[in-house]
Amino acid sequence: MRPDLQPVKRDRLSSSPTAHRIGLSSERASQIVRQSGSARWVAFIGVSLIALFVIGYYFYDLGFPGVAGSSRLVKSQQDQVVTDVSRGYDLFQANCARCHGSQGQGGIGPVLNDQMKLLAHLNPQYILNVLTVGGRYVCGDPNSLMPVWAQPVGPLNYQEVNEIIAWLRAPNDLTFTGTDPATGQPARISGWRDPNFVQPPTATPVPACWKDAFAKPSASAGASTAPSPSGAPSAAPSGAPAVTVIKITAQNIAFDQTDITVPAGQPFQIEFTNNDAGIPHNIAIAEGSPTGNVVFKGDIVTGVTTTTYNVPALQAGTYGFLCQVHPNMTGTITAK
Ligand code: HEC
Repeated sequence: MRPDLQPVKRDRLSSSPTAHRIGLSSERASQIVRQSGSARWVAFIGVSLIALFVIGYYFYDLGFPGVAGSSRLVKSQQDQVVTDVSRGYDLFQANCARCHGSQGQGGIGPVLNDQMKLLAHLNPQYILNVLTVGGRYVCGDPNSLMPVWAQPVGPLNYQEVNEIIAWLRAPNDLTFTGTDPATGQPARISGWRDPNFVQPPTATPVPACWKDAFAKPSASAGASTAPSPSGAPSAAPSGAPAVTVIKITAQNIAFDQTDITVPAGQPFQIEFTNNDAGIPHNIAIAEGSPTGNVVFKGDIVTGVTTTTYNVPALQAGTYGFLCQVHPNMTGTITAK
């Protein structure tokens, strides 16, 4: 055997015999009992503290019963939603507002902030498809002005597309601080969609292609650049007083007049000038208010141009008029 592996003899050490002479005194014995008792207490209190912490943390994370908004997880999820929406807002202002308007009120592109559209038409999957395929997806127009936005063809990545969708769908009770596109100053921004909106019973459903909301060229009630009525009953029988002509101009997505009066029971003409270059507008007349039943639809015309609508006689009463491309452009017509 190697010498370094040989077992070495060691002295066994123990306490001196005097230490063993004295037995366990009763004092010492009771001390030991006390000590072990308090050790159990310490353990019990320790375990209780941990249990209380776990219970407390559970409620902290998931919310205290009956206390709304006390859940940390729900709150951080909401913070994430607001982050997505406010990023989507910035992306929208940078890329989309020049055609759809900074409030989504429309311009070269169709209106996006319309509640009827936001109800079902502009759903997340549809917006995703439009951004992936481009404006061609909307009406099948290969020359659509709207390009493809989503990668790989377009510039926006998956995350950015989702943020834009989150912004377009954001409810109006969601507010955050963003940049006002007009002033460049920080402003409180809220979403467009009213989550409590219900479709009015008289509303016509949003067509798949936005252009179908406007009148097709028709012989009777459409626009005719020539003042002579084509198929329509003659507006002014010979000998009768000249037909009333109302002039309305659309500029900067607004009508220059919002209150017009026409003779009741007589056909009249609207000389409609669209001064918004490249932006389509029309004039439609609805019973009661601009959201009422549409009784006349003028053809949609893209500016800059002037066109004449031959409007059939209106019974005495109050009517609303609007641009159907931009339903925020409205006015009142009184027939008397
Ligand atoms: C160059 C102008 C232009 C820009 C920029 C633009 N769009 Fe459009 N957009 C249009 C036009 C025009 C249409 C209508 C498509 C058609 O019929 O050809 C449209 C259609 C849409 C539609 C469908 C609307 C409907 O009623 O069905 C959505 C949604 C949309 N755009 C979202 C966006 C978003 C989001 C952006 C920014 C990332 C954007 N657009 C940027 C011009 C534009």
